[in-house]
Amino acid sequence: MTDILLDDDAGIAQAGALLRDGALVAFGTETVYGLGADATNAAAVSGIFAAKQRPHFNPLICHYAAFEAAFRDVIPNEAARVLAAALWPGPLTMVLPRRAACPVALLTGAGLDTLAVRVPAHPVALALLRAAGRPIAAPSANRSGQVSPTTAAHVMQGLGGRIAAILDSGPCAVGVESTVLDLSGEQPILLRPGGATVEAIEALIGPVIRGGVTPGGALRSPGMLASHYAPSLPVRLNAATVLADEALLAFGPPLSRAGAVFSLSPSGDPTEAAARLFEGLRWLDAEGTRLGLRGIAVMPIPLTGLGLAINDRLSRAAAPRDEAGV
Ligand code: TXA
Ligand code: MG
Repeated sequence: MTDILLDDDAGIAQAGALLRDGALVAFGTETVYGLGADATNAAAVSGIFAAKQRPHFNPLICHYAAFEAAFRDVIPNEAARVLAAALWPGPLTMVLPRRAACPVALLTGAGLDTLAVRVPAHPVALALLRAAGRPIAAPSANRSGQVSPTTAAHVMQGLGGRIAAILDSGPCAVGVESTVLDLSGEQPILLRPGGATVEAIEALIGPVIRGGVTPGGALRSPGMLASHYAPSLPVRLNAATVLADEALLAFGPPLSRAGAVFSLSPSGDPTEAAARLFEGLRWLDAEGTRLGLRGIAVMPIPLTGLGLAINDRLSRAAAPRDEAGV
């Protein structure tokens, strides 16, 4: 059962309470409807991927009620401060380095060292973010492969029965997603054109590299960035045994309990495993390196539910580094 909540004080308070409890709530922004979850709760974020049936873990945008809150989680540079002052709240998403103390779950950013942050302009979305009192991860509220929804009815068609509630704030004014700008490197790079025009951005901060192509010719599309996090230790997939010099990423009953072992889900639940995947890879990489181990063995994970996305991510982590694009 998916509840439709009115965008009055009671509806906003209820939606905020649901988000704090780890439930999924779709809400309108000025661009498109987002499928929200508490960005600091990996299990809740994992639920987003399950509900959307995404075959891989795209990094998600974190939504904040104010720029001060966003910049407590990421490190802004001068361009980011200028853009925030001029264009937030609004349809601009900035990719910036995570702070060391950033409480946002690694799964939200697909294990990357950067995080996409935005302050949406819709008053109901802002009221909801204040009611939730924490960063909210929200991709567009459609099933994977379908178009982004701009009304509560669209969301219901795609996700009805799969999420707790939809906060209905009427049709979205902009109708296309936010502009995604990567400010984490030497030069600003446009990763996705959207509601904020490149002209407006360039008038504020100067030239932006368009089309995701750097002057050197290297492609930096979000798809390429999907190389994401890869551990420094080699990764061996579908392991039936663990070697003496390997750490173990376990799924279901662990093959071994000795040495560096991280259990993704003792009961073999892919949604629980997804929530713990990036945390597990980082911990095994650090712990395995500390113990002088030479690799990470990964137990087989079935290709059902979020298992597909987990295997996609693991096979990139296991690929030769130039192939994985890292
Ligand atoms: O208008 C919007 O932005 C909507 C509303 C709900 O706010 N949200 C949205 O989210 O469109 P989503 O998840 O569908 O798109 C996020 C985009 C993806 O293209 C993703 O690859 C990129 O942002 N992205 C997120 N984090 C990133 C990061 N750390 N580095 C590079 N790209 C990132
Ligand atoms: Mg989308």
